[in-house]
Amino acid sequence: MDLRTVLLYSHFALFLSTSLVFAGDIVHQDDIAPKKPGCDNNFVLVKVPIWLDGVEVTQFVGIGARFGPTLESQEKRADQIIVSLADPPDCCSTPRNKLTGEAILVHRGNCSFVTKAKVAEAAGASALLIINNQTDLFKMVCEKNETVVDVGIPVVMLPQDAGGSLKVSMKNSSHVSIQIYSPKRPLVDVAEVFLWLMAVGTVLCASYWSAWSAREAAIEHDKLLKDGFDEHLTSDTHHSSGLIEINTASAIFFVVFASCFLVMLYKLMSYWFIEILVVVFCIGGVEGLQTCLVAILA
Ligand SMILES: *[C@@H]1O[C@H](CO)[C@@H](O)[C@H](O)[C@H]1NC(C)=O
Ligand SMILES: *[C@@H]1O[C@H](CO)[C@@H](O)[C@H](O)[C@H]1NC(C)=O
Ligand SMILES: *[C@@H]1O[C@H](CO)[C@@H](O)[C@H](O)[C@H]1NC(C)=O
Ligand SMILES: *[C@@H]1O[C@H](CO)[C@@H](O)[C@H](O)[C@H]1NC(C)=O
Repeated sequence: MDLRTVLLYSHFALFLSTSLVFAGDIVHQDDIAPKKPGCDNNFVLVKVPIWLDGVEVTQFVGIGARFGPTLESQEKRADQIIVSLADPPDCCSTPRNKLTGEAILVHRGNCSFVTKAKVAEAAGASALLIINNQTDLFKMVCEKNETVVDVGIPVVMLPQDAGGSLKVSMKNSSHVSIQIYSPKRPLVDVAEVFLWLMAVGTVLCASYWSAWSAREAAIEHDKLLKDGFDEHLTSDTHHSSGLIEINTASAIFFVVFASCFLVMLYKLMSYWFIEILVVVFCIGGVEGLQTCLVAILA
């Protein structure tokens, strides 16, 4: 197997992983706010199916908060809760409407997320849905001065459009209910395994192809030599099969090496590591390009 072929393929892999890493480099408010007792949940995607008069009509996707209880992971076990609008809509002071275990729909802003959750819980709500003021989601963290966080109801942020259409439904129908659940992520993503297989398959094919073409070339070479020197043949055949064995070994080595490498990349995910990689792959790429040019021009 030609090491340069491998390097060329690695370029592609590197390009993919770099875009992933850069996506992970964005600093959120949750990176600055430290985890503390009662405020140390992982951010999970939350599914919120909407039921109108007993029929499930749509499903929104929100994000859970750093605080609050762990969410149910299965839809069939999640309770159906009636939704009501908060009055005032920011839920920073005790709502005027009477609540008896409903989920309460509030707007973001005017006070902290924890304050809203505590107000809603004290007023008798069983869940809090916060509508974001933007179309995307926001990771809800605790403020620096909120040392004791003890929220007993689930808090979910919905994007602005989802919140808006939920409000429209509530104006139209008298009986709007929701469920809140967060499906567990599988330990190993099927897509990850598939990508790994694809990468390994590509490398194996490439190495077999180059090993095969090397063998063809060796046979051709042998044929040419056969006319002139008959004795030379045996030692030369031996030489060509030796070349293929080395190729197989290095292919296996590469697969193991690349897998470890990808795992490391995934674990480290740091900027300097990527920079070193870019330099290393550039050197390999230039070398590969040079070989190609020499082969074409010769
Ligand atoms: C914040 O408070 C102001 C004044 O009470 C009010 O006009 C505004 O609508 C509130 N913001 C939200 C998001 O409810
Ligand atoms: C959304 O609300 C937050 C908190 O009140 C505020 O800092 C931010 O500027 C608002 N964003 C928009 C686009 O209104
Ligand atoms: C935290 O600080 C903000 C203003 O910086 C204040 O409005 C809020 O009441 C404080 N919260 C607590 C729990 O002290
Ligand atoms: C309101 O409900 C009626 C029937 O209950 C339906 O025909 C109409 O499309 C609904 N409007 C909106 C805006 O959802």
